[in-house]
Amino acid sequence: MTTTTIELKPSSHPLPSAEREKILASPGFGRHFTDHMVTIKWTEGRGWHDAQLVPYAPLSIDPANMTLHYAQTIFEGLKAYQQPDGTVATFRPDANATRFQASARRLAMPELPVETFIAACDALVTQDRAWVPAHGEQSLYLRPFMFATEVGLGVRPANEYLFVVIASPAGAYFPGGVKPVSVWLSEEYVRAAPGGTGAAKAGGNYAASLVAQAQAAEKGCDQVVWLDAIERRWIEEMGGMNLYFVYRTGDAVRIVTPELSGSLLPGITRASLLKIGEDLGYGFEEGRISVDDWKNGNADGSLTEVFACGTAAVITPVGSVKSARANWTVGDGQPGEITMKLRKALLDIQTGATPDTHNWMHPL
Ligand code: PLP
Ligand code: COI
Repeated sequence: MTTTTIELKPSSHPLPSAEREKILASPGFGRHFTDHMVTIKWTEGRGWHDAQLVPYAPLSIDPANMTLHYAQTIFEGLKAYQQPDGTVATFRPDANATRFQASARRLAMPELPVETFIAACDALVTQDRAWVPAHGEQSLYLRPFMFATEVGLGVRPANEYLFVVIASPAGAYFPGGVKPVSVWLSEEYVRAAPGGTGAAKAGGNYAASLVAQAQAAEKGCDQVVWLDAIERRWIEEMGGMNLYFVYRTGDAVRIVTPELSGSLLPGITRASLLKIGEDLGYGFEEGRISVDDWKNGNADGSLTEVFACGTAAVITPVGSVKSARANWTVGDGQPGEITMKLRKALLDIQTGATPDTHNWMHPL
């Protein structure tokens, strides 16, 4: 079998269109799933095989499935947008495929070829085309993932895996729309340490983050901001988003994002904004930003905006910060002008409202 040949076994009971339309009118995030999924198996000695598009359905898991015990599981997130001519295109699926391979290497899992990853996403979106929301910035969120399917309790890389792609219509990730979020600087808990799995999109990273997210909620904040594991001083990222800091001196705008330390996720939105920023003529940089830089930049007025970015969240302003030591408001606490300009520039490319000069959109 060539790994990009996907056998089609469509559902004989897709959701009735009236029910689907009801969901699409207010999809939320990650609450509803389309009629199909793609599955591809990997077995030691045989490689990738049995690629199929099948009706969306529960998977049967043995209680001794290795993933349930040792968490060999990775995932991706990317979006398909309806274009003005009625076609559908995904945003940078090659970048997700490449990062998925990097995550697989870190978790001692087999690497799925880039073209197979893209073919699987294409097959699902094509089959479930009717689930791609037709309006504005709504999208069909694709969730490719892979996990160990071998049964046994030995601690070692499994010899069998399943790759799956599911899809979910997506409205706003934060239900309030573009409203600034409040963040809690986590000093007690860290997300990832040097040499760990922080740069991989591994399920375990998210499991380990939940107690800090709960702590943020207890403090009255929407999200956690992670600091570096060693000094608890350098800003890393948010729960599911990278961060950007906007500095202004007179008319000059400098936009800084934490450099890839090895323990934060190399976001595709982050990388895309570095290019869009160049297009818009802003000085964009990767650098180190400490908690004190953030606090002092706020106090002296040079740091005017902070925003978070990621596939699910797009671009979300950060309005206020809380830590064990201090609280402060970012700028005037409202969505910043540059934040909103970058958000529009990115969404315009994704929705086809502006020419895709970087060749990021992958038409189906
Ligand atoms: N950081 C974390 C921890 C994430 O889960 C995500 C989401 O995927 C991001 C950053 C942003 O990455 P991307 O822009 O590729 O979605
Ligand atoms: C994404 O933005 O795709 C994410 O994976 C973030 C979150 C939903 C975990």
